[in-house]
Amino acid sequence: MDELSRRKMLISGGVLGALGALGMSSPAQAQPWTWSPRGSVAGTGAGVDPRWVWDEEADPLLASLLDRGAVPEVNRLLWDWTRNDQELPAGLPGDLRAFMDEARQLPPWADRTKLEIAAEFNKGRGLYLNLLNGVGGGMLSTAIPEEARSVYYSQGGADMEDRVAKTSMLGFAVGALNALRPDGSLVVESVKTRLVHAAVRHLLPKSPGWSHTSGDEKIPISQEDMLVTWHTLPTFAMRRMLDWEVPITPVEAEAYLHVWQVTAHLLGIREEYVPATWKAACAQSDQILGRAMGPTPEGVELTDILLNQLAEQTSPPVGLTRPLCNALARYLVGDQVADWDAIPREPIWDPLVAEAWPLLVKFREGLIPLPAVPEAAWTLDEAARQYILFYLTKGKETKIEIPVLNRPG
Ligand code: HEM
Repeated sequence: MDELSRRKMLISGGVLGALGALGMSSPAQAQPWTWSPRGSVAGTGAGVDPRWVWDEEADPLLASLLDRGAVPEVNRLLWDWTRNDQELPAGLPGDLRAFMDEARQLPPWADRTKLEIAAEFNKGRGLYLNLLNGVGGGMLSTAIPEEARSVYYSQGGADMEDRVAKTSMLGFAVGALNALRPDGSLVVESVKTRLVHAAVRHLLPKSPGWSHTSGDEKIPISQEDMLVTWHTLPTFAMRRMLDWEVPITPVEAEAYLHVWQVTAHLLGIREEYVPATWKAACAQSDQILGRAMGPTPEGVELTDILLNQLAEQTSPPVGLTRPLCNALARYLVGDQVADWDAIPREPIWDPLVAEAWPLLVKFREGLIPLPAVPEAAWTLDEAARQYILFYLTKGKETKIEIPVLNRPG
């Protein structure tokens, strides 16, 4: 595929286009799963609808650990398990150790060369990626009802600052130069997250708040939910960067996809659902992301908390005021999602951000000279930096832990 058609394919439908074509009138469960496993890294599979598949290895294990009261001790033991190459701590229950020994292995198709290229790419494009995955991905996730409700009614929903700091640990681990090298932490954070999700599948059905709002969903975080969220991360980021005309070579694009394929595997997404190419990823995203989105009271409340945090953490004199945060968030995810999240419109800032950000990107990429960049762009640039730094620092004080409860109350 030539460069122009590759870009067109990725942008067309783009996140905004794909969301624009939302099947809001036809709920996800009414639509058949047609994405072919031939487009997956496995290249084959039964084509089972991932809405009815969860994590058959981790789920019974976590249910058992929770039921026998073993989780607090497991969390204590795993606190200092931080490096990819580190031995598992002594004293872990045998069934958990056996599972983790297996779950921490890279898949046979992991390609070291691609992972190294991805690491360099992530470093060079770190500012955009952290902003897209952090603020953008955050705003998308609150507009995904199944995710917003899970987050709201689970233990972490009561302390969103800590939750975002923990979630950012995975984001930073993916983006780190040593992500999957022996001294990196992506394997650790992903396997811990897989355990957390399995625990949530056992705990959340016991939450009255979740049960009353989740409709016919009886077990949260299906494989389809995982894929939906996965697309709010690499697929969304890639499409937005292409919208902004960030120069990305085909080799870089493939490598960036690859690190996220490996991450999907480590998170427990089955290989028959992990897209093998960007073309397959876009097709899958276009099928499932839009239809999974919409407004909820929980999502609106979480969005407000997240945007207030963003405004607080990017401090004056260069900081983002809440109106500027609103405008940045709206710009990243587009009007449809911003309206679902009830992000207020900002008549002054909305047009300014939409004009300033693409120019800032072009300047950073060496495509235009300095005088063309409006002043507002530097506020955004500096604030993005502060935001990343805040969560990098916060992330050092906390660790991903398996919950034992739902949100109290
Ligand atoms: C926890 C990442 C998909 C719901 C976490 C954590 C990370 C994470 C890093 C640990 C942070 C923490 O404990 O607060 C991801 C990634 C996903 C994904 C990378 C997909 C690629 C989902 C989906 C849902 C979900 C689809 C729900 C539909 C939750 C919940 C927690 C959690 C409820 C636990 C919060 C608590 O502590 O109570 N996730 N997640 N996640 N995730 Fe996910």
